[in-house]
Amino acid sequence: MKLIFYGLLIFSLTKATSQKSTPEDSQYVAAVVEFIMSDDVEDNIRNYIHYIEEAAKQHADIIVFPELSLTNKTTAFVVPVYGSLKRYPIPAIHPDLYDNILVSISAAARSNQIYVVVNGRELMDCTKNDTGEPCPELKEYIFNTNVVFDRNGAVIDRYRKINLFREYSHTPALSPDLGYFDTDFGVKFSHFICFDIMFQVPAVQSVQKLNVTDVIFSTMWFSELPYLTAVQIQQAYAYEMNVNFIGAGANNISLGNAGSGIYSGRAGALVSIMPGVPTTRLLVSRVPKIPGKVSGKYPGPIDDSLTNTDNLVIYTDPTLDTHVSRPLVPGFQEFTLVDKDVSCSFSIRLKNKSGDAYPHFRAVVQDGSNVYVNREIGVAACLVVACTTEDFKSCAQRYKNEESNVEIENLVIEMTTFKNTYNETLQCDNMLYLPISVRVNKLPLDPTNYTFVEESPITSNGSEKTKNEATATIIDRTKFLFKLNKPQTDLVAFGIWGRLFLNDFDHSNNESKSM
Ligand SMILES: *[C@@H]1O[C@H](CO)[C@@H](O)[C@H](O)[C@H]1NC(C)=O
Ligand SMILES: *[C@@H]1O[C@H](CO)[C@@H](O)[C@H](O)[C@H]1NC(C)=O
Ligand SMILES: *[C@@H]1O[C@H](CO)[C@@H](O)[C@H](O)[C@H]1NC(C)=O
Ligand SMILES: *[C@@H]1O[C@H](CO)[C@@H](O)[C@H](O)[C@H]1NC(C)=O
Ligand SMILES: *[C@@H]1O[C@H](CO)[C@@H](O)[C@H](O)[C@H]1NC(C)=O
Ligand SMILES: *[C@@H]1O[C@H](CO)[C@@H](O)[C@H](O)[C@H]1NC(C)=O
Ligand SMILES: *[C@@H]1O[C@H](CO)[C@@H](O)[C@H](O)[C@H]1NC(C)=O
Ligand SMILES: *[C@@H]1O[C@H](CO)[C@@H](O)[C@H](O)[C@H]1NC(C)=O
Ligand SMILES: *[C@@H]1O[C@H](CO)[C@@H](O)[C@H](O)[C@H]1NC(C)=O
Repeated sequence: MKLIFYGLLIFSLTKATSQKSTPEDSQYVAAVVEFIMSDDVEDNIRNYIHYIEEAAKQHADIIVFPELSLTNKTTAFVVPVYGSLKRYPIPAIHPDLYDNILVSISAAARSNQIYVVVNGRELMDCTKNDTGEPCPELKEYIFNTNVVFDRNGAVIDRYRKINLFREYSHTPALSPDLGYFDTDFGVKFSHFICFDIMFQVPAVQSVQKLNVTDVIFSTMWFSELPYLTAVQIQQAYAYEMNVNFIGAGANNISLGNAGSGIYSGRAGALVSIMPGVPTTRLLVSRVPKIPGKVSGKYPGPIDDSLTNTDNLVIYTDPTLDTHVSRPLVPGFQEFTLVDKDVSCSFSIRLKNKSGDAYPHFRAVVQDGSNVYVNREIGVAACLVVACTTEDFKSCAQRYKNEESNVEIENLVIEMTTFKNTYNETLQCDNMLYLPISVRVNKLPLDPTNYTFVEESPITSNGSEKTKNEATATIIDRTKFLFKLNKPQTDLVAFGIWGRLFLNDFDHSNNESKSM
């Protein structure tokens, strides 16, 4: 009896093991869930367990769930990484010590032998004096937190969101600690949350300082045209940082929340979704350990062509029409637009396929900043964008593919802009220039359809000054080339979106709390 039992046990263990990726493998398997949350936490836990099982059946090594789609407004869990988790790291086998949420996810990770990343509201109760970590005030803090479980169900990392987006009941991380963890398949991941992707810390620092090639992203993204729709920015970040990017998005289309995917550096999306109807969906793909080194077939982008049922709310940058711009006309045109220290040279050929041109297109340049919830962010951009009329105010709008009769036969943008610098303290770049595009189906172009290169930098010898006359720093210039490789008929936006982190400013401390 005993022999048979052990025989079965060994057999089943070997079987499970053979499905796990190893450090020697050239790839691993990742899963993300685009997820409609319930207000009832019990429902969410049940659904999470279901998708953990499904992902394990498809041999996923790791599964990632979206931001704030596990807990609800009245619940939060404690993640005592400096407390009991040090001695008892597996909530599943010490259920009396931990919140039921942690215990349930730990048990599911353990029984399915899969890494699990979840996000939820985390409680740190500083009135209890047992947190083992700094508590500036004797009160309860709620953080927006990623929790990572390994295959045994142990909590191996906790990351608190640094850059909050209109989350007035949450406190940003008390110190800007990066999230990262190692796996038994030889991949080190960093991870961060939603609005964090817009900032040097952690989005650029976590990759460059930690030297990781794989990034996990939990989000509840509010898409905004022309630069910041969900899959567009995820794919552009993966491309320019040259990382694998595992992004899971919460889905609530009436609020504008949608978009998930798994991307591999310069190869683009291995799988992605930007649904226009309410959607919960598991996406699974093999991921090459060397970003961009794809081989064989991948699921690819899940096309979501415009239909009458597409009700995803997409916001538009309300300041777009304040920038220097020029309308495009049918035929060939070549011109340069300048805003302060940034110049964009455009070379474009448009063709009406029949009759009057629709949509209208416009070229735009920006050297300045945008403001999102009190955070002023430095931006340098060159853009071609679709508009429904000749009025600039109608720009950055989706249009119906069947109504389009304009083919962009040729489109070349050359941007002359600030050359990147490096922050030795943070150990990362001070700028990030992203090649962005979005089509009427809300997905970006495949990288095979464009070329994005940084041309040789131009070094000034002190004749040019930065806008800040006080420092009078020499500015070095650089040039980027961004062009279409093939004619396109369904572009909504195509351009270079540069983030100049040195120009960022947080107005939160200067304005009234009610803002
Ligand atoms: C949150 O979920 C818990 C557990 O399912 C439930 O008891 C509570 O009513 C929910 N709160 C809200 C605001 O829906
Ligand atoms: C918290 O614990 C520390 C050390 O254990 C102790 O010195 C301090 O008095 C405690 N504070 C409260 C409010 O209980
Ligand atoms: C970063 O990682 C790569 C391989 O992923 C390795 O070749 C390189 O030496 C690492 N650099 C540092 C500074 O750790
Ligand atoms: C979407 O958000 C709205 C507004 O908060 C809420 O009323 C609605 O229940 C949400 N829908 C889903 C499916 O969560
Ligand atoms: C192309 O569209 C423009 C603007 O709508 C129009 O003036 C022009 O006549 C059209 N050309 C052709 C060949 O139809
Ligand atoms: C590097 O970044 C830190 C943190 O943002 C900042 O305080 C410091 O001034 C930066 N250093 C330089 C040389 O820009
Ligand atoms: C690439 O461009 C071609 C048109 O030249 C188009 O048919 C194809 O759908 C594009 N692919 C992607 C993924 O952008
Ligand atoms: C510096 O600028 C001046 C004036 O523009 C130019 O004549 C000179 O050749 C430049 N020197 C170097 C080293 O680039
Ligand atoms: C922020 O407030 C300080 C002190 O009141 C002031 O000196 C500074 O100019 C303000 N900055 C901005 C950008 O409003």
